Amino acid sequence: MSAPSDPQRMEKIVSLCKRRGFVFQSSEIYGGLNGLWDYGPLGVELKRNVKNHWWRVMVHERDDVVGMDGSILMNRSVWKSSGHEETFSDPMVDCRTCKARLRADQLIEKKGALKCPNCGSKDLTEARPFNLMFKTYVGATEDESSITYLRPETAQSIFVQFKNVLEVSRKKLPFGIAQIGKAFRNEINPRNFTFRSREFEQMELEYFCRAEQGMELLEYWKEERLTFYENIGIPRSKLHVLTVPGKERAFYSKGTYDIEYDFPFGRQELEGVAYRTDYDLSQHQKASGKSLEYFDEETKQRFVPHVVEPSAGVDRTVLALICEAYSEDEAPDEKGKMETRVVLRFHPRVAPIKCAVFPLLKNKEPLVAKAKEIVDLLRPHMFVFYDESGAIGRRYRRQDEIGTPFGVTVDFETLGEKDAALRDTVTLRDRDSMKQERVKISDLLELLSVRIA
Ligand code: GAP
Repeated sequence: MSAPSDPQRMEKIVSLCKRRGFVFQSSEIYGGLNGLWDYGPLGVELKRNVKNHWWRVMVHERDDVVGMDGSILMNRSVWKSSGHEETFSDPMVDCRTCKARLRADQLIEKKGALKCPNCGSKDLTEARPFNLMFKTYVGATEDESSITYLRPETAQSIFVQFKNVLEVSRKKLPFGIAQIGKAFRNEINPRNFTFRSREFEQMELEYFCRAEQGMELLEYWKEERLTFYENIGIPRSKLHVLTVPGKERAFYSKGTYDIEYDFPFGRQELEGVAYRTDYDLSQHQKASGKSLEYFDEETKQRFVPHVVEPSAGVDRTVLALICEAYSEDEAPDEKGKMETRVVLRFHPRVAPIKCAVFPLLKNKEPLVAKAKEIVDLLRPHMFVFYDESGAIGRRYRRQDEIGTPFGVTVDFETLGEKDAALRDTVTLRDRDSMKQERVKISDLLELLSVRIA
């Protein structure tokens, strides 16, 4: 059963994202532009950590995957051959009463009649296809011959470069080509914050194989991808695998799974894992007249490989991480009075800032100097933040709210003023338990490196 939606929780998350610099509305000072978002100083770190972890497990830790970075604009023929120009569309309906433009699947059905979700009117136009690709012109003339599109997925540049990458990497089947990059879709109704945007990033792997390996690899990649989400802090209990029924799959796909997450606005897709057969390479081979075949040296056979594609959205993963991390608990303020504490319980692996360093007091030079020494010690290995302003309790709260998992405080004991045995030790505070342990400065780097790896 799908989790109940929680609009209040979502409102708090959106407000925190703006207040603390995770996500801003694009072009905000001009009134914004629907479906477009900018990532602020913390958002960009979180996003980068997600992409880096994906690249690490999908490319660097494997012998059978290489990366590439394709251009966003490509020859129009790519989009003709892939079928996007003809069929990459959503059915669109206009409400004649309130003039809303709607995706047909957003209409409300009551007693067999379709209604506008905005005004409840039944006065709706027939559904007609609306192509989601952004059209543009390349070069100085704006005519039919210069048309192309902003790519709606990164996958196609992998297919059209298949032969070049195969030649330079000298890989044998099965092997994959991975790419992270921007994609653009002129969504009819962007909504749910960054969930459905008009500009977003994808992390895609095209894993090429023999026909007989396709179904098995589809299962393999579904499991790998579930493990990925678990390893960045999304519990298995909140992830769901939807087997896309035959009539809803692309006609060329022999099997597709959607990996879904329980967002506060309902259960929604994070990633698609699809067995696309040899459709894409065959289409491009036919249309370009260039061979995209693989030569098997052992069997001396030549054939077009099949492909299994795990295709994830960076922005949706980031949003799921923020939704999962958001929590409120009770903690004492400076006077010991209990107050609500907002905490982003990010997995340390993806947290934007790994460790905050605080001198207990900012006007005590030896404390400040020691804290800065610790920053210099940690900085080459992780993103650290130095903060000396305000009461220490308030400084902890500020870091809790942005999900910094560790806080290091330099106090008088660090200077050995109270007990010589404690010289060059600091307190290490854990964001979630708020417990503090006393550790040697010389052990800090090792201790933290293990916890954020
Ligand atoms: N190459 C296959 C492909 O593009 P898709 O299911 O259309 O498949 C893959 O997209 C992933 O890209 C989705 O699971 C989602 O995470 C992300 N995505 C797609 N459209 C998006 C949008 N409008 N806004 C944000 N993310 C989107």
